[in-house]
Amino acid sequence: MPEEPASESVRPLERGLAVLRALALAEPGRLRAGDLVRATGLARATVDRVVATLVRLGHVRVRGQELHLTPRLMELGNAYLAASGLTGEVAERTVRLADELDESVSLAVPDGDGVRFVAQVARRRAMSVAFRIGDLLPPERCAPGALFADAWDEERWAAWRARVAAGPAESAFPALPPGPAPADVPDLADRVARSRETGWALDDQLIEPGLIAVAVPVRDGAGRVRCALSAVSHTSRHTAEGLAAAVLPRLRAEAGHLEVLLAADPGPPGGAPATPAEATDAAPDTDTDSVAAAKAELGPDFLRSLARGLAVLRALGGARGDGLPLTALASATGLPRATARRCLRTLERAGYAAHDGRLYRPLPRVLELGHAALSRLTFAEIAEPHVRELTERVHQSASVTVLDGTDILYVARAATVRVMSVRITLGTRFPAYATAMGRVLLAGLPAPERERLLRQVPPRALTPLTVTDTDELARVLERVAADGCATADQELEEGLRSVAVPVRDAAGRVVAALNVARHAGTAPLAETRDALLPALRETAAAIEADLHTAARFQAVRLP
Ligand code: PHB
Repeated sequence: MPEEPASESVRPLERGLAVLRALALAEPGRLRAGDLVRATGLARATVDRVVATLVRLGHVRVRGQELHLTPRLMELGNAYLAASGLTGEVAERTVRLADELDESVSLAVPDGDGVRFVAQVARRRAMSVAFRIGDLLPPERCAPGALFADAWDEERWAAWRARVAAGPAESAFPALPPGPAPADVPDLADRVARSRETGWALDDQLIEPGLIAVAVPVRDGAGRVRCALSAVSHTSRHTAEGLAAAVLPRLRAEAGHLEVLLAADPGPPGGAPATPAEATDAAPDTDTDSVAAAKAELGPDFLRSLARGLAVLRALGGARGDGLPLTALASATGLPRATARRCLRTLERAGYAAHDGRLYRPLPRVLELGHAALSRLTFAEIAEPHVRELTERVHQSASVTVLDGTDILYVARAATVRVMSVRITLGTRFPAYATAMGRVLLAGLPAPERERLLRQVPPRALTPLTVTDTDELARVLERVAADGCATADQELEEGLRSVAVPVRDAAGRVVAALNVARHAGTAPLAETRDALLPALRETAAAIEADLHTAARFQAVRLP
């Protein structure tokens, strides 16, 4: 097959990536299409088409005039993380190390002349900043920077010097706390020379007063620094030297274990690829019915080659060890080889992919496409837009709650007309036994735990209809567990009826409940339930899909 000219790139993909970068840099929800025109230099019509395509792909959500990145976009960063070999057992070891040291522990990789976090386990944080997966720091302001800069060539040093000389470009490092750098930041070249001698690097309040960190390199088989393992603390607990003395032996031993792990296992974390897009032998992920349907629906407003390019980026998540050949990427995406190759060229030019010989792999810069911002989402924030959509769909109030002791606790809510005497706000609690959501949550517990909670607070009659007999409640919960849904008819308040379904994590555990509440009316309860269940189930599935993507490589805070 003839090689294509190197200049050939996929313009809609380039533009889509530029729009995603601009969206990622903006304050959440603060960007409108007009701002994107200014930020990217693209024509308004182009921006509109890119946004329409990203909305159709589920990566962007429009609320009024505002544009929001969705958790589904994290599939791109997850593809890099999956291919990096730094998830699974490696990440689990960093969690154990943080427990053992009782300090925060992180893993970071070099990204150009920057330092990009790929794992973060926070313990006893006492500083204003907390970095997340995907955050980027300048090398002169953190411990890993001195370890990574040791491998720089002259060109990279020159680029770094030019950037530093150009002055503080905070927009390049949105994770840095605002304000000037400390006055006495030591010279990076001196820190590199020092850490070469000692084998570790120190951050003595380079980011903000009080924050100290010690980092050691984790090397690959060829001796190159693959990532840095850091322990992070505060001057209220240690001096910088004291932290080094306390943690270095364990950090070094752990880096040794990680080196063995990384050398031994270029295979996928946990065995099989976790998403279909990453299974090179799975059903093709693009150019199949959904892309064709989107094209048919949106016509010229759907940029098919942007959809294809992002599918190639996701498919790079199937790369292990040295990477994937073009054939594997073409078959994973269902694209002709020439199309997949053009997408790869564009991704390489933008810094999101690289190849060695025939093998392609994703690069850590993929994480700049919204991953850090989305890493901060709590479960409540993930659920909220779905709850709002459900309310718009059924014209009734919808809520998400979690179990807190024997109560349900509201974490997301969208109300229509008020049907209850008390105003429900986030943080409102009700006794679990008298509510449909509480029953879903109790039914999701292991039997002994369920039993214990039922006996803990003897149920009280809140209305004449409240079920208060513990044995009867236990039977109700059995049925809820079997049916996957619960009802409560005027048991919490007269005139109020509620139908609820569970929201499960990727392991299948019930982590929350979703309900719709309405006036009891005169219709039979079963009719109300059957009318609401399809919308409830679809909404729960949409929340679950976002949660599973967001929680694939990191803990999502509940609530
Ligand atoms: C962090 O993980 O938060 C961290 C790591 C190294 C530093 C500073 C912070 O130098």
